[in-house]
This record gives sequence, C-alpha cells and structure tokens, in this order.
Amino acid sequence: MRRLVPMLLAALAALAAGCEKKTQPAPSGESGAPTATAGQSAGSAAPEGSDTILLGEVGALTGGQATFGISTRNGVELALKEANAAGGVKGKKVAVRVYDDQSKPEEAALAVTRLITQDKVVLILGEVASSSSLAMAEKAQAANVPMITPSSTNPAVTEKGENIFRVCFIDPFQGFVMAKFAHDNLKMNKVAVLQDNKSAYSIGLADVFTRKFTEMGGKITGTESYSQGDTDYRAQLTAIKKTQPDGIYVPGYYSEVGVIARQARELGLKVPLMGGDGWDSEKLYELGSSAIEGSYFSNHYSPDNPDPRVQKFIADYKAAYGGVPDALAALGYDAARVAVEALKRAPDTSSASLREAIAQTKDFPGVAGTVSLDEKRNAVKSAVVLKVADGKATYVTTISP
Ligand code: PHE
Repeated sequence: MRRLVPMLLAALAALAAGCEKKTQPAPSGESGAPTATAGQSAGSAAPEGSDTILLGEVGALTGGQATFGISTRNGVELALKEANAAGGVKGKKVAVRVYDDQSKPEEAALAVTRLITQDKVVLILGEVASSSSLAMAEKAQAANVPMITPSSTNPAVTEKGENIFRVCFIDPFQGFVMAKFAHDNLKMNKVAVLQDNKSAYSIGLADVFTRKFTEMGGKITGTESYSQGDTDYRAQLTAIKKTQPDGIYVPGYYSEVGVIARQARELGLKVPLMGGDGWDSEKLYELGSSAIEGSYFSNHYSPDNPDPRVQKFIADYKAAYGGVPDALAALGYDAARVAVEALKRAPDTSSASLREAIAQTKDFPGVAGTVSLDEKRNAVKSAVVLKVADGKATYVTTISP
C-alpha cells in the first residue's frame, strides 16, 4: 500500500531550479495514477554533482489540498531561480528534489525519509498542512536534518525539536485574531464552531478561538465536527442553526469549507462564516460560489499590500505562473529564501551549521512579512483579515501580536 508518488514533472522542476527553463508543477489530475517509485523517476533526473546543493521539498501536489502544494512549489521554484541567477550559494547551484504526498500525512512521512536516506538532502522544505508537517518533523528531527515549514501553523510542529523551523505565525495567535475580529469588528456575541477532526490544524485553531472568544465575553453556542473528505455537513449545520449564532467559525481547508458554505446557505443559515489561512485557495471561490461571499478569514498576506517588495514579487510570479500568488506561494518563496540565506551564512552545509544559521534568522524581509525567529523557532508576525467579495479575498485589516 505504499503509494509514494514522486512525479516526473516534479523531478524536472528540481532541474529547472538550476536552469532557466520555466516549469509548471503537474496539475493534480496527471498524477492520479501512482506509477513510479520515488527512487526511480526522481533519481535519474537529480542534479547531484559537487556543483549542486540539494534541498528537499514535500508537498500536496494532488488530493484535497493540491492548491497548497502547487502554490508552494511555484514560490519555492521562483526563489531558487532568482538565487541561482544571482550566482547561487558558495559557488554552487541550489536544486530541490520534490515529492508529492497526495495530501496524506503518511505519504509525507515516507517522502521525508526518502529525501534523507536516499537523496541525502541538506535541508527540507514543507509541508503546508500541519498534520503532514507533524509527521515529517518527527522524521527530520530524529535524523537531525533541518526542516522549514513555510506555512504550518500548529504550535506542536516546531515543538518536535531543534531542527524544525517555520517562517509563519502560529495558531495561538491566529485564533486570537479571528476571535478579536468577530468580537470587536463584527460585534458578534454568539458564535458556533465547526471543526475538522482529522486535522491537527483545525482542532487547534477551533480550540484557541473558543478560549479567546469566551475570554472576550463572547459565547460559543455549540461545537460540531466533521472529517476531512466528508461531503454532507447538513446534520452538523442543522444542529448549529438551532443555536442561532451570529456567525460560524469554520477553521478547515478550502475543499470542505466551500461545500460547507453552500450547504449552510441551502439550510437557511445566513450568518457570516469565519475561518483561517486554510481557506486560502482559488478553489474556495469556485466551490463556495455566492455562498461564501461576505465571509471572513485570517491570513498571512494580502496581494493588496502596496509595499514595492510585495508588488515586485506579485509581478514576477504572474510573469512565471500566470496568476496572483496566494499566501502559500508567498510563504513558499519566503521559506526558500530563508533557506538560501542560511546556506550562505553557514560555514558549511552540515546539519549543525545549517540549523544554527536558520535559528539566527532575524529581520528577514519576506513578502509575507518580516521573519524573525524566536527561541521556539517560530516567526512572530502580524496577520491580515480578508473578506470574500466578488469571488476573491479583499483586505480588511491587519492585526499584530
Ligand atoms: N496553516 C495551515 C496548517 O497548518 C496551512 C495553510 C497555511 C493553509 C496557509 C493555507 C494557507 O495546516
């Protein structure tokens, strides 16, 4: 049942990091049939000379979180292309070996082991979903290989050990942000919670929101749950409707949230939905359509940010991939750049040197905010609140820690 799917195209993307060729990650449809094993297809294409520093990346290029992995892939690739165009690191090109985990934590764990034992990468980028990063961090920490997650926000990820870092904020902050926004800005008093019981991210965020909103004087009218991949949420939504909330907090991922929004509206639940960064996907607007309009979510970044650094990134990204980068793309870009900077500062590419160099990241000018890592290897940053309007996310406000 081991169905680790390394994609030929992903392996080619690894090569592209070392040359000029523009490569798109494989669309999720293409890799539906897991055919090759990781060693085979990726191995032959790997640029593993003494003139190359090899990084590893694990992402959801297919499955329910595919837009997360694809956007991250693009961001990482853009950063490495730029780094290589600017001369690389220590006279070498930086390349990346990529594995698709199909949105499954078990596959993410297998991929990370393969990157470490077989490909012998010096550093690992990924994952997005906290449950997958938790599975990966376990392995990376045990093998003493540094790992940087661009966007996993569950606090337990970096608690796995001194080798595990992230360039984003954590959920004790993110949960506070939406509780504060619901209470202060939306003037809500009663909120219901609908959480994904299969996601460490969702459970953690629901928990923080509940605590913070209650501390602010608000009331949680009820908490319901679902499992990632479910398609019928009517029983939970009907139960929630009976509690007459002013809003519903749904800290899940876009694939489920889009459908939840539709079913909520069908059942006559008209109040705003609220969520976190897991909503950030083009697919949310497709799946949710008019049902998701007027809802709010917290996020790491907004393309509306007029900062020239951010606007340049957006222009470069558009030129390379043809769409506006989401937060995953921005954080993937930032994570890869933090990795490159650490590689430059480190005296050599040993785990110990790299770990030390990453830990010292301070005031790094990212496109999703400035990255300064604290003693727990987390970035401390502000969050934005976005409103869904006209089929996209529009900037509302920034909330700082
Ligand atoms: N923070 C989410 C998690 O930990 C992942 C995510 C980040 C999703 C940013 C979308 C945007 O699972």
